[in-house]
Amino acid sequence: MSAPPDAAPTQAARVKPEPPPAFQVSGRHAKRLPNWGLKLTMALTGTIGALFLAIHLFGNLKVYSGAEKFNAYAYWLRHVGEPLLPANSVVWVLRIVLALCIVAHVSGATILWLRARKARGRFAAKRSHRVRSWSATLMPLTGVFILAFVLFHLADLTLGIKPLAPETFQEHTATAAFAYQNLIASFSRPAAAISYVGAMVLIAIHVSHGLYTVVSDLGAVGKRLRAVLIAIAGLTAVFILLGNASIPVAVLLGVLS
Ligand code: HEM
Repeated sequence: MSAPPDAAPTQAARVKPEPPPAFQVSGRHAKRLPNWGLKLTMALTGTIGALFLAIHLFGNLKVYSGAEKFNAYAYWLRHVGEPLLPANSVVWVLRIVLALCIVAHVSGATILWLRARKARGRFAAKRSHRVRSWSATLMPLTGVFILAFVLFHLADLTLGIKPLAPETFQEHTATAAFAYQNLIASFSRPAAAISYVGAMVLIAIHVSHGLYTVVSDLGAVGKRLRAVLIAIAGLTAVFILLGNASIPVAVLLGVLS
């Protein structure tokens, strides 16, 4: 016989329903950091990173207009906003935003990766049914290499930490920048130039797959919109690869000196 409609709920009916799988996370931060929140954070910070790379590429390509213009651009970056703002204000805002993005992106990736590993449990080894592209599988690896590259790059062209930086590295002064001379000196070392080209390939793989994921995760389901956004993601990665990699190659070939 079924219970009358106005009967008090039984103990079983009062039990809170199970959360959907995306929320079933473990660890101390389980309730505060749902998987969708982490994925959204990664999408936003990754897009900001890709935007930085596109803007940085435009700056880098100024190297083809000669030492004077490239150094003037590096000098302007440090003095933009003066006299209203102190020197280096804009550069420091960019540095802080980028550093926060990197920390959030890497933390999100690490937590999601650990959760996925734990969730797979004893089935982790049975991969035959999983269909993943090679670029997706490589995301953690390319991500770690990019992090290592950024540290090397800062030591090489911003901080001048030897032996990663060239012997002739010159600090910028209050009145002059030496970005062009430092860049040529660095890429005149074949190992450094080849490392930059290799890093650009890994960055292009990471950025193209990352932006593809952003398009999917943010729910671009319309056929045409999806095709356009994926094409933009692919083209961004190709421009970052070809534009940036052309610079060390041009120095090695003696086109830039
Ligand atoms: C061949 C490719 C690249 C070239 C030629 C290049 C060139 C440069 C140069 C010349 C500087 C120093 C600017 C200055 O002293 O004013 C610089 C700074 C920087 N680059 Fe690159 N870059 C390249 C790729 C990248 C990539 C792929 C990333 C990120 C993944 C990156 C991130 C940065 C950052 C964060 C700074 C430091 C800005 C600062 O704090 O002053 N660069 N780059």
